[in-house]
Amino acid sequence: MSGGGGGLLEGKVVLITGASSGIGAGAARVFAEQGAVVVLAARRGERLRELAGELEGVGARVGWRVVDVRCGDEVRALVEFVVERYGRLDAAFNNAGVGLERSPLHLLGDDAYDTVMDTNVRGVWNCMRHEIAAMLEGGGGAIVNTSSVGGLVASSTGAPYIASKHAVIGLTKAAAVEYAQAGIRVNAVAPGLTRSEMVDQWLQVPEASRRALRSAPAQRAAEPEEVARAAAWLCSEQASFVTGATLAVDGGRTAW
Ligand SMILES: NC(=O)c1ccc[n+]([C@@H]2O[C@H](COP(=O)([O-])OP(=O)(O)OC[C@H]3O[C@@H](n4cnc5c(N)ncnc54)[C@H](O)[C@@H]3O)[C@@H](O)[C@H]2O)c1
Repeated sequence: MSGGGGGLLEGKVVLITGASSGIGAGAARVFAEQGAVVVLAARRGERLRELAGELEGVGARVGWRVVDVRCGDEVRALVEFVVERYGRLDAAFNNAGVGLERSPLHLLGDDAYDTVMDTNVRGVWNCMRHEIAAMLEGGGGAIVNTSSVGGLVASSTGAPYIASKHAVIGLTKAAAVEYAQAGIRVNAVAPGLTRSEMVDQWLQVPEASRRALRSAPAQRAAEPEEVARAAAWLCSEQASFVTGATLAVDGGRTAW
């Protein structure tokens, strides 16, 4: 933990969705290290409880709550919980999301489209609506949404996922423009391949691993904390004039 009071997010109340694994769990550690009071939200309560225990063990202030971001009422209750317990909401990292099986577009069914759009787009929409309402009450705030390199460029499969992550950037820009004068900044991170349970499994397949590592100049996957540090900076006062931006955290992937 920052301990000495000099963290980027000292005393800020920050909500992190998708905090039970991968980038979100990395963010919980990074944000707490930077002095934030963190509220962890995802679907798997046991994971959240364990992570909260780990962070409390090193002196962080942590809350957690199970939520399905696809459900507006659950997200409203989550934001109310944060404000009731901690008095305000300073920042949010809307990171919960799902990937998609690698299958050609014409073989995908409605269910694949619905799952990805409901979680990745409606989820961010639900979160932003309620977070912005709370931030307006509190006099401002900062939001970071997780898009993807798939929000900036396409790949050979996964059309609904690509569309969902482009939509996250659209929502980010629209909210940034609408609330700039209200003191609410809204940005996105666009991670490249980042280590998570799903990605680690996939990297076990030698050909997939070779292809993935060739796809970025850095020739490796990111650690979740490398993405989380970019999100923490965007949430902090250090980024006070940054809004409506999408920060690629991709080892050079989209520069190629
Ligand atoms: N790992 C990568 O290579 C990569 C690359 C680009 C973007 N992303 C994006 O990063 C974000 C985090 O993914 P990750 O790689 O850490 O994967 P992950 O599977 O480890 O984490 C996803 C998190 O989202 C949560 N989640 C999923 N659906 C939810 C729902 N309906 N309600 C609440 N929580 C839900 C899960 O519980 C989990 O905590 C996602 O938005 C993903 O699309 C990941």
